Amino acid sequence: MSLYFDIQLNQALRYCEGYYIESEAKRFFQIYPFTTENISGYIDQFDVKGKKILTVGSSGDQVIELALHGGKEITVVDICPQTKEYFYLKKAGLLFFEKSLFESFFCYKDYPRVFKDNINVFRKSNFQKLEPILRLLDYESYLFWGELFNSYTSEIVRKHLFFDDEKRISMLQKQLRYLSSVTQYHQAKEQIAKISPTFLIGDIFENDLREKYDIIWLSNIAVYYPLEQMKELVERLQQNLNPLGKMMICYLYDTKKDTVYQEDWAEVYNLEKTLNIFPDAKLVNFLGVEGIRSQKTSVQDAVLTLQKKR
Ligand SMILES: C[S@@+](CC[C@H](N)C(=O)[O-])C[C@H]1O[C@@H](n2cnc3c(N)ncnc32)[C@H](O)[C@@H]1O
Repeated sequence: MSLYFDIQLNQALRYCEGYYIESEAKRFFQIYPFTTENISGYIDQFDVKGKKILTVGSSGDQVIELALHGGKEITVVDICPQTKEYFYLKKAGLLFFEKSLFESFFCYKDYPRVFKDNINVFRKSNFQKLEPILRLLDYESYLFWGELFNSYTSEIVRKHLFFDDEKRISMLQKQLRYLSSVTQYHQAKEQIAKISPTFLIGDIFENDLREKYDIIWLSNIAVYYPLEQMKELVERLQQNLNPLGKMMICYLYDTKKDTVYQEDWAEVYNLEKTLNIFPDAKLVNFLGVEGIRSQKTSVQDAVLTLQKKR
């Protein structure tokens, strides 16, 4: 095993002990258990089938959705050190479990009902069923989760290594097509079996990407960084797009073209400024995550996209 793997496992074990290092670099040490975006809402804006794609996302959900929609070659770039290990745990779960068991293994907050956290999350007897397949999929992931589940209770692992930001299952089923029905889940099983992503673990602002992609998804990282820094990144990443390739510059919650900016919001929500910096970008609206909670209040989320010319 590499020295990097040893350090990363050691850090994860220390996190489970409740030891946190407060620093900028550790802000995204924790894993997102599921996406916080309505991927179902925007995926059809991108012609994913047969394409080569670069995406951010430690939850692994972007990869599963891209695979379900026929994405061919997928690279994940993420600063969260556990991104690869969690993806392979999810892939093993998807391949081995039926939909209801997958949900009861991975969902924690408000599962199965609101105000109840899932006592069966990461249940050890179910993890043990995944171990043989995980071992074959990715040996480091097998060692990583084995060590954590042997050292701590499932609930401790779930609470310490993951962000709290998790929507309840009825919403996730609308945000993610692979959870929307048993048929889609089975389709995702078939598609994910063919996908072994490339993982670039580290800061996207420092990563010297060499390859070209048809699609680049930057999730909502723009919320956490100054707009000028995002401008440089987007300009640089345009060199990594194939002709007619498309980039999602940012996912924006509850935002329409005429939404009035509030001073305490992240800079990217200042649409006048953002669209000035990215004059060729397009704002596309769809049903928002909070709109999913209540269809009556049709909250609109948006993606800011940019298409490369020929
Ligand atoms: C901003 S977070 C929010 C969750 C996101 N909306 C989703 O649904 O996955 C998105 C992802 O960006 C990653 N991230 C944040 N800053 C990054 C950076 N500088 N380089 C690479 N990944 C980064 C985080 O680790 C996380 O997985």
